[in-house]
Amino acid sequence: MKIVSAADLDMDSVAEHFEDVVVVPTETVYGLGASIYKPHAICRIFELKNRPADNPLIVHVSSVEMLRTIIDGPVSEECQRVIDRFWPGPLSLLFRANSNVSAMVRGGLGTVAVRMPRNSCLLQIIERVGPIAAPSANVSGRPSPTTIQHVLDDFDGKIGLVIDGGPCSVGLESTVASFMDGRLVVLRPGRVTVKDLEEVAGPVEVRSKTEDGKALCPGQKYRHYSPNARLVLFKGEAQMSRDRMCEYIRRSSGARIGIAAHSDLSFDAPTDVCVFDMGQTKGDICRNLFSALRELDRTCDVILVAGVDADNEGLAIMDRLEKAASEVVAE
Ligand code: TXA
Ligand code: MG
Repeated sequence: MKIVSAADLDMDSVAEHFEDVVVVPTETVYGLGASIYKPHAICRIFELKNRPADNPLIVHVSSVEMLRTIIDGPVSEECQRVIDRFWPGPLSLLFRANSNVSAMVRGGLGTVAVRMPRNSCLLQIIERVGPIAAPSANVSGRPSPTTIQHVLDDFDGKIGLVIDGGPCSVGLESTVASFMDGRLVVLRPGRVTVKDLEEVAGPVEVRSKTEDGKALCPGQKYRHYSPNARLVLFKGEAQMSRDRMCEYIRRSSGARIGIAAHSDLSFDAPTDVCVFDMGQTKGDICRNLFSALRELDRTCDVILVAGVDADNEGLAIMDRLEKAASEVVAE
C-alpha cells in the first residue's frame, strides 16, 4: 500500500493504478475511486465497503463534455444553470444513464448520479483516466472519512494507492438532487443548501421517499455514519438539551462518556468526560463532525451530541446525526 501526497503525484503511474481501486481526495470526503470502465475495480469497491449491490455509486467527471458521454439525452437549460453555479463543487445531480454506465455503477437503476469535484488533483486524474465512480472511503455504516487516518482505520493494507490531499475542506458528502416533474428535488441534503439551490432553480423540494415509501436515494435507507460507541442525540432548545445531557452523565456512572460539542451548546463538562470541540459555525460542524465521531469512538462508550437548527447546512448535519444515533432524547 503506497500513500502519496497529492502534490507529489506522478500522473503516469497513477493511471496504471486505476486498473484497481485508488483512494482519492475530494473536497467533501475521501472516496474509493475506480474507472467506470473497469468492471473488476468497480466490483472491488462493493467488496471492500461491504456495500449492498442496490446502492449506486456517484460518478465524478472533470467537464460537461465528459458528462455528456455518460448520460442519455441533452442537458436541459435549467440543469445547465445549476451546473454553471455549483460545479465544480459538492452537488451531485441525477441523469438518465447512457448504456456505457454499467448496472453495477447504477445499482440497477436507470439513472446515474454525477458530480464535478472541487479538487484540482482529482480533476487532473479524471481528465487522464475518464469518469471515476467513488463512494465515500469508509466501510458501509461507519462515519465517512475526512482525513487519510480515517481511511487507514477502515482499509489499511487493502488498497494499492492512497492519495493524501490533506483534511477535506467541506467534510460532509455532496448534496444529491434531481429534476423531477420540472422542479429540483433534494434527495440527500449536503453543504449546497436548499436556499443556495433556490437562487438559481426556483422553489426546491426536499423529499426522501417515493409515494409508495421507497427511498429515492437507495443509500439513505441504511443505518449510517455510526461509531461503535452509542451515539445519543439531544434535540430541542439549547438549555433543555444541556440539562438533559447533565442528567444523562450523572446517571451513566462507569461509562466512558464523550461530547461532540459546538457553540450552540457550551458545556462545563466533568473532568472525566472527553470533549471534542467541533467549532462555532455550521460550516465548522460539517467539517469536523466525522472527525469528532471517529476520535471520540477511540476512547468512549457513549457519545453525546446536541442537535442544531435544521436550516441551511443544519439540514445535512441533522440528517447525518439522526442516521448515526442509537438514541434520540427529545423535549
Ligand atoms: O461527496 C460525495 O458525494 C462523496 C465523494 C466521494 O464524492 N461520495 C459519496 O458517495 O458520498 P456514497 O456512495 O457514500 O453516497 C452516494 C449516495 C448514496 O446514498 C446513493 O444511494 C446515492 O448517492 N445515489 C447514487 N446514485 C444514485 C442514483 N442513480 N439515484 C439515486 N441515488 C443515488
Ligand atoms: Mg457513504
